[in-house]
Amino acid sequence: MNVLILGANGFIGSHLSEAILAQTDWQIHAMDLAQDKIETCLQHPRFHFVSGDITKQKDWIRERIQHCDVILPLVAVATPALYVQDPLRVFELDFEANLEIVRQCAEYKKHVIFPSTSEVYGMCPDTEFDEENSNLVTGPINKERWIYSTSKQLLDRVIYAYGKHKGLSYTLFRPFNWYGPRLDNVFNPKPGGSRVLTQFIGNILRGENINLVNGGSQQRCFTYVGDGVDALLRIIKNKNDSARNKIFNIGNPSENISIRKLAETLISLITQSYPNYAERAKSVQLVDIDAQQYYGEGYQDVSLRVPLVRHANEQLGWTPQVSMETGLRATLDFYLN
Ligand code: UGA
Repeated sequence: MNVLILGANGFIGSHLSEAILAQTDWQIHAMDLAQDKIETCLQHPRFHFVSGDITKQKDWIRERIQHCDVILPLVAVATPALYVQDPLRVFELDFEANLEIVRQCAEYKKHVIFPSTSEVYGMCPDTEFDEENSNLVTGPINKERWIYSTSKQLLDRVIYAYGKHKGLSYTLFRPFNWYGPRLDNVFNPKPGGSRVLTQFIGNILRGENINLVNGGSQQRCFTYVGDGVDALLRIIKNKNDSARNKIFNIGNPSENISIRKLAETLISLITQSYPNYAERAKSVQLVDIDAQQYYGEGYQDVSLRVPLVRHANEQLGWTPQVSMETGLRATLDFYLN
């Protein structure tokens, strides 16, 4: 099998590339702007990497789509602060650039595995988000945070329509707060410059206080990247066509914790297990901050986000295996050791 991964140097792309090389005999064709996260893959004979920008290297992409069996377009902006600061870039990259790739997958009859997002459910009041029944609830246009959710949602709808009316073979997967080594650069000191876990680790490493947006009572189901990649491998294998034209939530419903609890857990883990940083962690204060002050006027939050994972379980035989404690330790070992 030939697998095309656009954005192979990203958080998901790099973990997926490593897993494919270690666990399968598939060939990977890959593009990214940078290569710092895939150094272990670059010399591998089954890893064919080209450095480049997916919005510019269009001939290469078209040619590779024709050559490959499965296409994973993973390039996207995925940090909430950027949805508010640069919404047009989110639209241009996450929607427009990926639409071109989806259309070519339809043209050449290739299986596209597209990263949708937990964010499509937005402020849905359901206690468990169901791929087939939950409403997708976003805020007014002046809340620009939703441009990411709605760009992804529209592309989900376009892919679904290509599947139904033009024979496109697709799988949409929705990561629920995947985390692990290489998530974001913890040395990026801009508030909101990275996702919450890496933001908090960076705060602790720099001895800064941790900002709890609106008090930190909002909850997320944190999902270890190894579990996420296990689901992706099952989707790519597509045993008995089990992933064809399906949508899967890929999240860990049993690790549903508040953002405040995440901050407290990190401080306690670092204090107990990482002596070089224990003093710094002990001195960190948790400070409540208003969301508009932290992110700007265009921000709105999600208070509860729990995936129903029955479909992934029944169709793919997948269940999340890694506890938050094990996953956080692996992540902290990566950033702190
Ligand atoms: C994330 C991002 O949009 C994407 O990474 C992704 O598509 C999706 O959700 C996902 O991974 O499931 P969100 O969970 O809101 O959205 O993003 P984070 O930046 O990780 O923030 C989580 C929560 O922590 C938010 O409520 C945020 O307000 C809060 N937060 C963040 C703080 O309290 N303090 C901070 O310093 C940073």
